[in-house]
Amino acid sequence: MDRYNLAVIGATGAVGQIFLSILEQRKFPINKLRLCASDRSLGKKISFKGSDHCIEPITDNLLSDSDFVFISASSEVSLNTAPRAAELGAIVIDDSSAFRMDKTVPLVVPEVNAEDLGHHKGIISIPNCSTTPLTMVLYELGKLAKINRVIVDTYQSVSGAGSRAVRELDSQIHASYKDINIKASIHPHQIAFNVIPQIDSFDESGYTNEEIKMVNETKKILHRPDLKISATCVRVPVKIGHSEAVHVEFNQPVSMEDATSKLAAAGGISIIDRPASSQYPMPIDCEDKDDVMVGRLRTDVSSPNGLALWLSCDNLRKGAALNAIQIAESIISKSLI
Ligand SMILES: NC(=O)c1ccc[n+]([C@@H]2O[C@H](COP(=O)([O-])OP(=O)(O)OC[C@H]3O[C@@H](n4cnc5c(N)ncnc54)[C@H](OP(=O)(O)O)[C@@H]3O)[C@@H](O)[C@H]2O)c1
Repeated sequence: MDRYNLAVIGATGAVGQIFLSILEQRKFPINKLRLCASDRSLGKKISFKGSDHCIEPITDNLLSDSDFVFISASSEVSLNTAPRAAELGAIVIDDSSAFRMDKTVPLVVPEVNAEDLGHHKGIISIPNCSTTPLTMVLYELGKLAKINRVIVDTYQSVSGAGSRAVRELDSQIHASYKDINIKASIHPHQIAFNVIPQIDSFDESGYTNEEIKMVNETKKILHRPDLKISATCVRVPVKIGHSEAVHVEFNQPVSMEDATSKLAAAGGISIIDRPASSQYPMPIDCEDKDDVMVGRLRTDVSSPNGLALWLSCDNLRKGAALNAIQIAESIISKSLI
């Protein structure tokens, strides 16, 4: 079996750390692994498969020595690094929003649109962590009838904003019990014991950039530029796991039984739907799990063609690191490298 040289940029971050553990769990065929982060972390050692790897600076030498470059740092780092890495012959799999809407860059969830990898030009983007589980569910439901409209409200964990946001939630909870002044720096308000209906900044339409990303990315991945979709994205004081309340309107009625069996048969989706015994997806149960968990399926009382559901998904795994690794695995299996 061929083995590959990998560079992981952002290896010390929330996504980067999970990324390394998934590489190990899935026995990704690695020849050489090189790790990068910011200058603050240069020289720091990270253990992988029992041996220490030093954090290195991003150089042309490192990029040209890599078959795959995974970037989980920031849009700025991606904009500075990805085109150069692709020019030097690597395949870049990028977690940031920098290239997602670029027409020449495939935006991929392998269960949904792996065929889009066929026209990659060196850079492939992964979607926003709330978009990925939504598209997986809509893709399956769209096999039953045409979807006309989607309304989605998210309940996004703090790890979606990086490892500093997780530490901030911890310190705010601690401060509140010690009666110390609570400071907010990552989010616009205190997140402990609160929910914040703002992720990223607002544009002139009144939507946030996070909401607009969900709308545009969903249309691109599903190849449905005509899809009517509206999102409200909310940060909640959960450490890991994003949840979504999704209302789907079809062009004809779809039975709950058909919807449930279609979703249950899909790869990467688990159904947890026994409301009588209070069993439904919750972020606390999806942490460290690969599947998107779906439940609370019901016919929408307000629309004969409507279906409502609830989902939870580990944002650091399927929402980021796992999706990126599955893209690399698809590229290898399709001989696109
Ligand atoms: N968190 C999620 O659920 C999620 C989901 C999908 C996509 N993403 C995307 O993934 C990326 C990383 O997110 P995260 O949550 O892991 O953030 P994070 O926890 O804040 O980690 C950021 C990482 O980037 C590194 N970094 C910062 N500046 C750098 C530079 N100039 N050069 C090289 N590396 C640099 C940091 O290194 P130091 O440790 O040295 O600072 C750290 O390793 C973002 O683009 C984010 O939008 C995140």
